[in-house]
Amino acid sequence: MHASPESPAPPALDWLALIRPDLERVEGQLQREAVSAIAAITDINHYLQQGGGKRLRPALLLLAAGACGRAGGELAIRLAAIVEMVHSATLIHDDILDGAETRRGRPATHRKWGAQASVLAGDWLYMQSFRAALRERNFEILEILIELTQKMVEGELRQREMLGTVVAPAEHRELIERKTACLFAAAARLGALAADASPERQRRLGDYGRHLGMAFQMMDDILDYTASEAVLGKPVGGDLREGKMTLPALYAYAGAGAGERAQFEQVMRDGNYAGASFEAILNTVRRHGGLQQARAESRREAELAAACLPDLPDSPYRAALALLPALAVERES
Ligand code: IPE
Ligand code: IPE
Ligand code: MG
Ligand code: MG
Repeated sequence: MHASPESPAPPALDWLALIRPDLERVEGQLQREAVSAIAAITDINHYLQQGGGKRLRPALLLLAAGACGRAGGELAIRLAAIVEMVHSATLIHDDILDGAETRRGRPATHRKWGAQASVLAGDWLYMQSFRAALRERNFEILEILIELTQKMVEGELRQREMLGTVVAPAEHRELIERKTACLFAAAARLGALAADASPERQRRLGDYGRHLGMAFQMMDDILDYTASEAVLGKPVGGDLREGKMTLPALYAYAGAGAGERAQFEQVMRDGNYAGASFEAILNTVRRHGGLQQARAESRREAELAAACLPDLPDSPYRAALALLPALAVERES
């Protein structure tokens, strides 16, 4: 190596390596939990599992458990599989509700099995996750899962009610908190619970997860404008077409003139970009700083997440948790 006049950058923390063996155990658990007496249900579950997915929520749970001093514990592995099952069930339902064509780079389940079978498979998977949670004989775990699932459903329903409308940013925040951040909060909290952390530490990690989830969903909404379908594995430009005014659009709309506003409204009304092209919309979003403002808000949430960590003891797990918010707002998929 050549000597550098500047001080060398510290080696990047390979946070995934910390939990890779645990994540493999989670995969095994997911495979076992996916099996139903009805082949179509097993097929749908395996199809979604094999499509990839970042396994972010299980990773978060495992890192939180590690940061609270209990890495690699059996309970954390089981709970990590449970949160991924809840996530998968919501994806199945979300894609039906959104009429999405693709998920994880492949046709969405309802495109292959139809909406009816997919709704039922999603229901089954929700119940399977609760069955798995029931085995723990721990009411606190059940309470966390039930509360978060109801919040997610409320969020998705609220989103439907708001389709095609321009909402205040505060109302939009509440929506994404329900539909996405609650699950991140529960994952981090359950990790702390699996490590027998104090109630205060569980609460702080829950707050960390909530802010991380907010940052993550805001970035998801930004990527819907800026990414490519090949990288994202799901359609781009879909949000506005589905009638969703997400943060980049809301901020741009606030500064847009009547003609530009009419373009947003037309796409939402038509459900396609025939009348106003995606490029035109994207230009408007850029021109009025929609992406910039949404990014700034996402970064703010990431900072709030990082600020929830100081009282944790120093460990590679804590360092990984400190890294995640920045990764969430810099990600490209
Ligand atoms: C998708 O979540 C749903 C959102 C909350 C945006 P992910 O982006 O974590 O999806 P997978 O699991 O990696 O496919
Ligand atoms: C994410 O909503 C929340 C859930 C999946 C519950 P989106 O509709 O933005 O998620 P994607 O973009 O389809 O993954
Ligand atoms: Mg969707
Ligand atoms: Mg999205």
